[in-house]
Amino acid sequence: MESKLFSPYRIKDVTLKNRIVMSPMCMYSSDTQDGKAAPFHFTHYESRAAGQVGLVMTEATAVVPEGRISYEDLGIWSDEHILGLKQINEGIHRHGAASAIQLAHAGRKADLKDPIYGPSPLPFNEQLQTPNEMSMKDIQHVITAFKDAARRAEESGFDIIELHGAHGYLINEFLSPLTNKRSDDYGGSTENRYRFLKEVITAVKEVWNGPLFVRISGNEYHEEGNTMNDFLYFAREMKKQGIDLIDVSSGGVVPASINPFPGYQISYAEEIKRRTGIPTGAVGLITHGIQAEEIVQNERADLVFIGRSLLRNPYWPMQAAEELGFALEGPRQYARAWK
Ligand SMILES: Cc1cc2nc3c(=O)[nH]c(=O)nc-3n(C[C@H](O)[C@H](O)[C@H](O)COP(=O)(O)O)c2cc1C
Repeated sequence: MESKLFSPYRIKDVTLKNRIVMSPMCMYSSDTQDGKAAPFHFTHYESRAAGQVGLVMTEATAVVPEGRISYEDLGIWSDEHILGLKQINEGIHRHGAASAIQLAHAGRKADLKDPIYGPSPLPFNEQLQTPNEMSMKDIQHVITAFKDAARRAEESGFDIIELHGAHGYLINEFLSPLTNKRSDDYGGSTENRYRFLKEVITAVKEVWNGPLFVRISGNEYHEEGNTMNDFLYFAREMKKQGIDLIDVSSGGVVPASINPFPGYQISYAEEIKRRTGIPTGAVGLITHGIQAEEIVQNERADLVFIGRSLLRNPYWPMQAAEELGFALEGPRQYARAWK
């Protein structure tokens, strides 16, 4: 059959061989606690590329040490991280996959002993620290850190950068009225809450010409949180700034109970794509090839991000192709397994 899931997708000068993206997933495996990649990371990312994922995206990678979720997070705050990240890239590229890095700052959700930062001094829950309210100098420091990280991402050989603006981490904390109670230019109106992300994008684009994605939480599961109208405003602004794709997840901004069902976040990606014309990625309990094919064929999203299914099975794309009756060529060495 003709599969759209297994058709190439071009963004700027980067061509993905198919529409399957490995969703960013923290592995908490930088054992040296200095943000450097460990042997686990090399095997982990290369395996998914061998499994025929079109775009392998790294886990949230911290742009400053105090922006880690844990001390075992990957980091990109120093030139010393480049060597390990290059090695991750070599593994991914060996199998014809493209690579992406998710640049992140955990904000008030950093589970660290060091001081943590956020737009407003409100803790996420009783377990985590109360963040320091960021001064203008702190804001400038983080914007510069995202820019420096983008330069290092380029030097490390990544094809695509994604900014982590979802799940209640720093960028999301500025976007959301639930976590941003500032009275300066960075808080209040939807426009002001977008300012921090806007400046991060501008700074990154000064050093990065490649495809740039942003992940957002398209539902905050709280009646006083951002609404679809806010997300559409953010999406239109991102489109104006030249963002290539919005990866639409949900939740994590404040503690909330969510009822996940198959494809539970797809409608947000679909609405943003349809109403603003910006390409989107869909993610969340997409577990079958048929489901993924349906999403791209019906143009509900342009790319399909797969998380836990790829942790269970690095060869998930092969399994999806088999389901669709599509003859996907895997690694030559394993050809007899699929004959
Ligand atoms: C172990 C694990 C770690 C995750 N870490 C990240 C992360 O670093 N960045 C991010 O944006 N999402 C993260 N997520 C969310 C996934 O990218 C994905 O959005 C979510 O798991 C839903 O997709 P799935 O149902 O296919 O797993 C993580 C999820 C898991 C299971």
